[in-house]
Amino acid sequence: MNKIVLATNNANKLREVREILSPLGIEVLSQKEAGCNVNPEENGATFAENAAIKARAVFEAVSLPVIADDSGLCVDALDGGPGVYSARFAPEGEHCDKLLSVMADVPAEKRGAKFVTAIAYIDENGTLTHCSGECCGSIGYEKRGTNGFGYDPVFMYGDKSFAELSAEEKNAVSHRANALKALYALLQSEM
Ligand code: IMP
Repeated sequence: MNKIVLATNNANKLREVREILSPLGIEVLSQKEAGCNVNPEENGATFAENAAIKARAVFEAVSLPVIADDSGLCVDALDGGPGVYSARFAPEGEHCDKLLSVMADVPAEKRGAKFVTAIAYIDENGTLTHCSGECCGSIGYEKRGTNGFGYDPVFMYGDKSFAELSAEEKNAVSHRANALKALYALLQSEM
């Protein structure tokens, strides 16, 4: 069976990637399972650059094919921000409140936003390929729902927030799922 290392130890990401890639006969290992303990500084200007930084650092440590992803929220009224600064936008647990307060005076027609995921894949020869996925929606006026994480309670997808969707509903349409579908197509074409 082909082995690929996912540049994370996040159990939710690992499960999602395993579910999508197992039909291709690919065994997905976490960084820890691959015996790799690197944590490079994600100082790229784009999601793709950050994904590539992570993938390259892990590839150099394990010498196996590697997948790394980087995601965030891009808000029209903030010129695409917080973007690559999504995690650093506010202290843990305060991201939604800060975004709502920054957006307090923004009218409905200017509240468009999208989640973006970039994936970097490095094959056994060290060749890097990128793919990505998006999910478009808007920023609500209050926090709604208790599922998910991060900006999910304020990201409106149709008439529900991401935090009001079940994990299955979110995983069917999310930026990460769309990027993983693109990765699936890429790996399928290589086998
Ligand atoms: P990561 O690259 O997947 O770790 O995501 C970076 C940051 O973007 C997270 O800390 C969250 O603030 C935000 N983010 C990424 N994906 C999601 C999502 O699906 N829901 C809510 N917030 C997200």
